[in-house]
Amino acid sequence: MSDAKSATRLTVPEITGRKGGKKIVALTAYTTPVARLLDPHVDILLVGDTVGMVLHGLPSTVGVTMEMMFLHGRAVMRGSSEALVVVDMPFGSYEGSAQSAHRSAVRLMQETGCQAVKVESGKGIAETIRFLTDRGIPVMGHVGLRPQAVNTDGGFKAKGRFEEERDKVLDEARAADQAGAFAMVIEGVASELADEITREVKVPTIGIGASPNCDGQILVTDDMLGLFDWTPKFVRRYANLRETITRAAETYATDVRSGRFPDRAEIYTLKIR
Ligand code: KIV
Repeated sequence: MSDAKSATRLTVPEITGRKGGKKIVALTAYTTPVARLLDPHVDILLVGDTVGMVLHGLPSTVGVTMEMMFLHGRAVMRGSSEALVVVDMPFGSYEGSAQSAHRSAVRLMQETGCQAVKVESGKGIAETIRFLTDRGIPVMGHVGLRPQAVNTDGGFKAKGRFEEERDKVLDEARAADQAGAFAMVIEGVASELADEITREVKVPTIGIGASPNCDGQILVTDDMLGLFDWTPKFVRRYANLRETITRAAETYATDVRSGRFPDRAEIYTLKIR
């Protein structure tokens, strides 16, 4: 997949260099038109595996496949030219061994043209992060609430609010940092713990339900646009598209049923030569 404009994109070292500096702005994107709208405003576009829940109606990210990530990764690359594009490695594509993770990551990068991949980095994944980064694959870590672990965790639950969990999350973050991750997402953890991780690791932390002191923030775009009736506590809604779309659909239906749509300006007429 060629990306003619890639020279103008933010790079992985530029993002790593933002540690403790200008805040990193990140959002998820899954489609070309939305990527086009977000690209001028953000530093990172994450093609998150949340695509499975947000666009495909899956109950969790466990059902997301490599093919879905290829399709949405390509779409986001086509719609952007400035932001660093990171594609999530889906459940099952990287946990088996460092070698299988390498094969999956190479395919993701070659099929989509993205610049980096993200893995949910439990402690056992640190070796894989090292294996990939040593082979030219930039890896973003993801610690705290790890949605792909929904079945072992018994739900989507905030992490690090109790002492025993705190050390586990801190160890995962340290391991990802030492293994060479270029940045890490911290999701759904006590803010004190997010602050401690941010102070300790040498790479930028990007919070979601974490702390304002992280080096950057990320939200799921469809959440912050207000497309769902329920969103987690940590989401700030910057728009209410659910209401806008509902009102537009209602008005359209009324107009069609009453014959008010289309009107003369919205139809073609015969032309006399
Ligand atoms: O998949 C995703 O969208 C993510 C974000 C929530 C960080 O991992």
